[in-house]
Amino acid sequence: MFTPPHAGSKKRRSSFTPPHLEQPAIAEWCSYDWTRRSLICSSLLMDSLNGKVAVVTGASSGIGHAITESLLEKGARVFGLCRQIGKIPEAAIPISCDLRQPARIAHAFEILQQAVPSIDILVNNAGIAYLSSLLEGKVADWDEMWEVNVRGLAVCSQEALKVMAPEGGRIVNVSSLSGHRVPPTGGFYAPTKFAVKGLTESMRSELKAAGLPHQVGSVSPGFVDTPLVNDYFRGREGDLAALRKNTRMLAAKDIARAVLHILEAPSHVEIGDVILRSTDQTV
Ligand SMILES: NC(=O)c1ccc[n+]([C@@H]2O[C@H](COP(=O)([O-])OP(=O)(O)OC[C@H]3O[C@@H](n4cnc5c(N)ncnc54)[C@H](OP(=O)(O)O)[C@@H]3O)[C@@H](O)[C@H]2O)c1
Repeated sequence: MFTPPHAGSKKRRSSFTPPHLEQPAIAEWCSYDWTRRSLICSSLLMDSLNGKVAVVTGASSGIGHAITESLLEKGARVFGLCRQIGKIPEAAIPISCDLRQPARIAHAFEILQQAVPSIDILVNNAGIAYLSSLLEGKVADWDEMWEVNVRGLAVCSQEALKVMAPEGGRIVNVSSLSGHRVPPTGGFYAPTKFAVKGLTESMRSELKAAGLPHQVGSVSPGFVDTPLVNDYFRGREGDLAALRKNTRMLAAKDIARAVLHILEAPSHVEIGDVILRSTDQTV
């Protein structure tokens, strides 16, 4: 039987965490009640992801793939929205969708509703990053980034909110460090991520004004080692080789962990944004 230290002392409560509580995420919210000799977990219990229904856009690659795997490991039921549905984790449910087409997004959520009455989580992860400067970039690249990174995210959010569980769901937008500061190579990509920051705030305000319980947050990573960086360094392969040689980039799993941190926060905690950089990243 577990015996708390200082048993019999006058102290009624302590933040001491019993050693057998191996899950730090749970231990953080527990304390020991010396009077009742039992563990008290905060009344604002952490939401479990087990059995939750999640939609992850861009589940076929990189960060979205890692987020999908992490949610599945936690027992969530995950729908992956993307074009290359053959590449999503096996246990996820694929829905083919090109986010550049709003009608296709609406249709994807109609299909989803045939399988589940409501959803609990939307992770707006899909995105593209072309190195496309404002001085010389191609308008076609700007259009694609705008349509996927910004309009697609807004349309997915609107459709998801129509089917979000009435007791409260959560949306996490995958933004970028480029939504906080603009590097010389930011071009048209950085403004799309500034727009994601604006959309996150705007959605939060609208939900509060409408009295809806849903939460919105974002993660803003620096460089993450995924196929996207190849597009971002298109034409500057030497710079990418130097970056890979001299710095450790973040891994997709690092971002997935931050997304789960937002999703598993207690119901009274709304995490607005999480900025993540590799310790080697200087800008
Ligand atoms: N990697 C980084 O350094 C980094 C840093 C900061 C932020 N981010 C952000 O992280 C997110 C994920 O990027 P990643 O690095 O994981 O890139 P990635 O490996 O290239 O994956 C991008 C995902 O977006 C999906 N996607 C792209 N266009 C789409 C479209 N038209 N319709 C539907 N899905 C589409 C792709 O799916 P399909 O091709 O199957 O459609 C793919 O699953 C993006 O929002 C990106 O801006 C990345």
